[in-house]
Amino acid sequence: MQALAQRRVLLGVTGSIAAYKSPILVRRLIEAGADVQVVMTDAAKRFVTAMTLATVSGRPVRDDLWDESAELSMGHIELARWADLVLVAPASADTLARLAAGRADDLLSTLCLATRAEIAVAPAMNQVMWAHPATRANMAALSARGVVCIGPETGELAERETGAGRMAEPEAIRDALAARYADHGVLAGRRVVVTAGPTREALDPVRYLTNRSSGRMGYALAAACVAAGAKVTLVSGPTTLEAPAGVKRVAIESAGEMFDAVMTAMPGADVFIGAAAVADYRPAEAAADKIKKSDGEASLRLARTKDIIAEVAGAYPDVFTLGFAAETTNLEAAARDKRKRKGLSMIAANRVGPDKAFGRDDNELLVIWDDGEKPLARAAKADLARDLVALIGERLT
Ligand code: C5P
Repeated sequence: MQALAQRRVLLGVTGSIAAYKSPILVRRLIEAGADVQVVMTDAAKRFVTAMTLATVSGRPVRDDLWDESAELSMGHIELARWADLVLVAPASADTLARLAAGRADDLLSTLCLATRAEIAVAPAMNQVMWAHPATRANMAALSARGVVCIGPETGELAERETGAGRMAEPEAIRDALAARYADHGVLAGRRVVVTAGPTREALDPVRYLTNRSSGRMGYALAAACVAAGAKVTLVSGPTTLEAPAGVKRVAIESAGEMFDAVMTAMPGADVFIGAAAVADYRPAEAAADKIKKSDGEASLRLARTKDIIAEVAGAYPDVFTLGFAAETTNLEAAARDKRKRKGLSMIAANRVGPDKAFGRDDNELLVIWDDGEKPLARAAKADLARDLVALIGERLT
């Protein structure tokens, strides 16, 4: 069994008002690294459009057992085999009844009968319908067959009533699935500390030195580590990014603060990933008051900061360390030298320049370790992160 990140998810959307949350669910599953194919019932189309779901999933929506052209490109039996997980969300009362009865008179019910993949349902209905003995019996029959039930939650329902029947939020569905499959990732049971983003080195209370790092690579790595089953602490400089689900984020500003936060997080860690663009120099003194301008030139005295990743590698020789080498020239030689000098297990080299790496969503890397290397072709940072995590997983003892 694989982690959620590697799964092909067939998402069945059925006729409940909660279907308005399905596009968000698709996005959350894709962000978690899953591949999503949406199948809609006729009733679902009264609540959300196929166009919306096709756009967010990046695949045409399937909705008809009798659609000749769709059947020719991937028949329903092939589709049932393609899926690693069938997730029915929202699952209406009628859908639960039909699944419990083993019906096969529309595409989704047929797929549920024809698949060998695990089936999960996220029920959504009025609380009286959820509590009804018929629904209870249907759920009992489905659970007995191994169908996984996520939610429903207790809260305000569409009719402004309160009770049990609200579909679990998309984030909660994603987290439940990620946790269910986390034991199967290459970093299952491991603890990872990741640094990301720029640092800010104060000149005075209002000014600082910084760099153009967006934090995207580090955040993508933190998300990929969670998807691979790790417990992740992300020590992050100031960015505009949201913390990936399941990650413990520690927000810092300066290189000194990053060093302290990393050293606090390190005991018990198995992997350290230094993706932050840590300032090499800080102003030798940060003025307590705003520095006033005067005529003529001014100069700045700088002091070195600590090399965080080198300190980690020195203090924790058994921890697997991955660093980055951003270079404008002599990429490979500089990266090899940097890996040795800092005592790192692995280094990912990338060429930087005005239009490369920083602030972009994609990148290309040359990954180097003690007895091997692998180029990773230009791809989205999320995909590169997944590949890097796989390489780490192969090398962890
Ligand atoms: O020496 P250079 O800055 O090129 O090395 C880059 C690698 O070292 C990155 O992995 C970066 O996160 C890490 N680094 C660090 N602390 C510093 C400087 C760099 O952890 N002070």
